[in-house]
Amino acid sequence: MSLVAATGRTRPRARLTGVGTYVPERVLTNAELEEMVDTSDEWIVSRTGIRQRHIAAPEQATTDLAAEAVNDLLARTGTNPTDVDLLIVATTTPDYVFPPCAPIVGTKCGMDHVAAYDTNAVCSGFMYGIAQATGMIESGIARRAVVVGAETLSRIIDWTDRATCVLFADGAGAVMLEADDGEQGSGVMGVELGSDGSSPADLWVPAGGTRTPRSEDTPLADTCIQMNGREVFRFATRILVESSQRLLDEAGMTMDDVDLLVAHQANERILDHASERMGIAREKVVMNLDRVGNTSSASIPLAMADARDRGLLDAGAVVLMVGFGAGLTWGSVLVRWEPRA
Ligand code: UT7
Repeated sequence: MSLVAATGRTRPRARLTGVGTYVPERVLTNAELEEMVDTSDEWIVSRTGIRQRHIAAPEQATTDLAAEAVNDLLARTGTNPTDVDLLIVATTTPDYVFPPCAPIVGTKCGMDHVAAYDTNAVCSGFMYGIAQATGMIESGIARRAVVVGAETLSRIIDWTDRATCVLFADGAGAVMLEADDGEQGSGVMGVELGSDGSSPADLWVPAGGTRTPRSEDTPLADTCIQMNGREVFRFATRILVESSQRLLDEAGMTMDDVDLLVAHQANERILDHASERMGIAREKVVMNLDRVGNTSSASIPLAMADARDRGLLDAGAVVLMVGFGAGLTWGSVLVRWEPRA
């Protein structure tokens, strides 16, 4: 049974008050990929919608990208870093096996002694992070939480595999969630989270963990992302619709109440199929994957910031975020956008 809950019925509520982002400078175009593998700009654009993506510099790791996004968030919201009491980093590509990224990011950003840990639900990780932060705020444990999605997927891409190297990319996004004891507004209105671990090999990195530790004999491809694209595509289109509907039903809302759908940026065709089945107008569906590719945990905050920058995200807007990916995992969050002026 998946977990579905309408939240914000107790005090304090968790308000979403800001979003910050970072993408590395280096842009990798489809034309460059044509020189690396047997592919074409035409295939990539027509099958995925992606035109370019950002790739981290050799000296940059996930905590560097995450810290840039957090600093952008702190600046935009005018937040003193020492006022943040919870920092969650959602990532699949940590700097190290351990320690986690979050304590390093906290120190880089001046959040002395912040409670900090990582969470990994791959492309749904950011949704799980928001759910965790909301629970901590609503239960009174935390007052001001930063949730980051950050990935350096370029380090686990097999650059000879055309089926995956044209898709995945690097980036980071962060949001602020704050306790509000007042009576107005609705903050985070609900979450829906679920998983199906019956076929982990549909999207995975087979080696390098405790089941198949990396050795001298490990083929490079087994230390990189491998995907059964067609299966994941089928899952993604189905779960985007089902998770959204379950959440809206629980919250007593309909798709007409949603101002913006910010779904994981995996493939334009997934967004097209799902939005058609959901009956949501195409102009309410945010799409930035043409410029940033699939950045896994970072995808949803990057898309949300893109909507803000293009004037599509008004204060008070009801935003439905949906993540899906390896695990298989999924997660949806329904939230009102209440930016700090
Ligand atoms: O972030 C986590 C969630 N991930 C997703 O949601 C990804 C879901 N899957 C997809 O988005 C799509 O399945 C892909 C974009 C990965 C692939 O698109 P597709 O339309 O499902 O292609 P396909 O895998 O069915 O392959 C069709 C053909 C194959 O050739 P044959 O066997 O028909 O001769 C592939 O070898 O396209 C070929 N192909 C390529 N051709 C040129 C696969 N990748 C490429 C490529 N360039 N980069």
